[in-house]
Amino acid sequence: MEEKYAAAQKILKKYGQERLLSNYEKLSEEKKLKLLDEILTTDFAQVEELYKRVNTKVDFKNAHIEPIEYTDKYKLPKEELERLEKIGLEAIKAGKLATVTMAGGQGTRLGHSGPKGTFDLGLDNHKPIFEILCDTLKDAQKKYGVYCVWYIMTSNENNEATVNFFEEHNYFGYPKEKVVFFKQGELPMIDTKGKVLVGEDGLIKKAADGHGGIFLSMKKNGIIYDMKSRGIEWAFIGGVDNVLVNMVDPVFVGLAIDKKVLAAGKSVVKANAHEKVGVFCRRNGKPSVVEYSEISNEMAEATNEKGELVYGESHILCNLFSVKAIEEISKNELPYHSAFKKAKYLDENGNVVTSDTPNAYKFEAFLFDAFESLDDMAILRVKREEEFAPVKNAEGVDSPETARALYKAYHKI
Ligand code: UD1
Repeated sequence: MEEKYAAAQKILKKYGQERLLSNYEKLSEEKKLKLLDEILTTDFAQVEELYKRVNTKVDFKNAHIEPIEYTDKYKLPKEELERLEKIGLEAIKAGKLATVTMAGGQGTRLGHSGPKGTFDLGLDNHKPIFEILCDTLKDAQKKYGVYCVWYIMTSNENNEATVNFFEEHNYFGYPKEKVVFFKQGELPMIDTKGKVLVGEDGLIKKAADGHGGIFLSMKKNGIIYDMKSRGIEWAFIGGVDNVLVNMVDPVFVGLAIDKKVLAAGKSVVKANAHEKVGVFCRRNGKPSVVEYSEISNEMAEATNEKGELVYGESHILCNLFSVKAIEEISKNELPYHSAFKKAKYLDENGNVVTSDTPNAYKFEAFLFDAFESLDDMAILRVKREEEFAPVKNAEGVDSPETARALYKAYHKI
């Protein structure tokens, strides 16, 4: 232990992070050891790098951005639609498609304290979001005769609550062996001076590393291996917050296979220039997404001669990746974006610090930053009223109320 303490002290000194040990003496023996292990396994050089790039905006000046081609599912001739459907069906029936739900984020904006998937949408049957998603897999089983494996990405914060929820609800009647949980990664949070924070538990304060961390965590948790050993070749990866998500879509899978691309994304027409969604585009020739927090007004508002938005293909976090692409992407780390958040932490005297305004940075990788490493991808434009009903905010836009209405209209209930 003394050796470990000395080693930790040395590292902290090197990176100017000595504050991490200021409450050490007050910790239990178990926590002391845990903190030392955390310090010894944290990549402080990476933290330093992340701090240097805090608040740097994406530089569009050196990037050539242009709209991306897409296939409109509803403008395809009937024979073409059927042809793609047949290709996709063959793969699905052969058990080559898995689904992945990214459920690591907390429902903070929603005002829900548990994992977002446990949120009751407020339907008459009081189904929680997880059950609504599971229904789509059960429907697919009825139609195509296969239970797609359902991988669920949780976070350290909500893994236990998520797994317990599935246990309590008997996996909503889905075969338990077809549901696989894995945890996403975490990164330390830092204050405005670049100092790593200590959480209320006396340990390093960490936050989920964004859904872009999915590729690395799939590798670390043996998920890529698991997929390969089950003969899975494609994975639909979606967020937990879209109650109209269509995870098993033969046309989508068929399009990717037919176009011989390693990934595909679904889009819906952007509702208005400033809707809070990312938009698909090409950046220096490669498929890409410009996030709503990073798009310029000029780009968001640009229209063509028909009066349509030039960048109007919204990214709805419904993407398909070949397992091969996941494996390739997982070899490199994606860039991290910083977010300025309110954080509760301990100061060097052991006092709890809270704030009404943001006071700390967390770092997140975005899944769609992986698109640029692909030569190409297929974009399938689908109908918003059929596939996109996000539950994000407690009230107003993208709230349980709007999602419920969309869900009821689609299911005619
Ligand atoms: C996201 C997309 C945006 C897209 C919109 C569609 C990002 C950065 N942007 O915006 O391009 O148009 O959805 O609805 O994602 N999640 C994790 N772990 C994390 C963070 C998030 O699993 O560390 C999951 C959440 O549980 C959720 C999904 O990722 O299912 C989306 O995350 P969120 O942060 O809510 O993204 P948005 O800002 O809504």
